[in-house]
Amino acid sequence: MCDDISIQKNRYLDQILAERRSHRIFRSDFCSEDEIRRVLHAGLLAPFAAAAVGTSQDYFRRFFVMRRGSESMKAAFPLVLQQVRRMAADLEAGMHNDPALRAKAGAFAERLSIFSKKGIVPGIGSAPYYIVVAERRGYPPVELQSLAHCLENMWLKATALDLGFQLVSVTSQMSSDPAFCAILGIPPGEWELMGCAVGYPADELSPAIRPPVEEVTRWLD
Ligand SMILES: Cc1cc2nc3c(=O)[nH]c(=O)nc-3n(C[C@H](O)[C@H](O)[C@H](O)COP(=O)(O)O)c2cc1C
Repeated sequence: MCDDISIQKNRYLDQILAERRSHRIFRSDFCSEDEIRRVLHAGLLAPFAAAAVGTSQDYFRRFFVMRRGSESMKAAFPLVLQQVRRMAADLEAGMHNDPALRAKAGAFAERLSIFSKKGIVPGIGSAPYYIVVAERRGYPPVELQSLAHCLENMWLKATALDLGFQLVSVTSQMSSDPAFCAILGIPPGEWELMGCAVGYPADELSPAIRPPVEEVTRWLD
């Protein structure tokens, strides 16, 4: 049924979907904690792998909010940078005798190398908030997929609130790091992690450009 309410709902949803972009430059001022809570609430509404974590007594999804300049962010930043440098060195060594890997991962390795040299981790310290989301490991191991749903919900809500949002996917490499997990207060290895940066965007970005649906779709008999 296509009544007025349905048309309105779809208009707003389509607008938010098209406006959702990766913001990588943020204003320095903090958005309110209430706005952050609304973003986290959207994450809680995302689907989760009930069959994989269903028997756990303890809730399986957690959020950790770090403010720029806080003790937690000051402690977390060098640990993540160290991980970026480790990944850069490992990848460089891996590509040394593997032309196929170099062809595939060269651009990514270049980015890691730039971040390593500059001593930056995009999204940590460059935005007012760095948020780590944790999902308890279950069976089958589908935590990262579950986290992707959670982060997408948060991203869409941030967009609806006119906030900028950037994924900080290196966060997933920190799930077994004892010092990083100690900052969060979780045991290393029991939770998968993903991260994002949130704040007011410095620039307005144009809506996402994607190919037409028909160009990338086959209707099978
Ligand atoms: C699995 C995954 C990991 C990503 N990791 C990062 C990241 O660490 N940093 C970043 O700035 N963007 C990251 N992105 C964002 C993509 O680069 C971005 O979505 C893509 O370039 C399309 O741009 P848009 O988000 O503005 O539409 C990631 C996206 C996905 C799906």
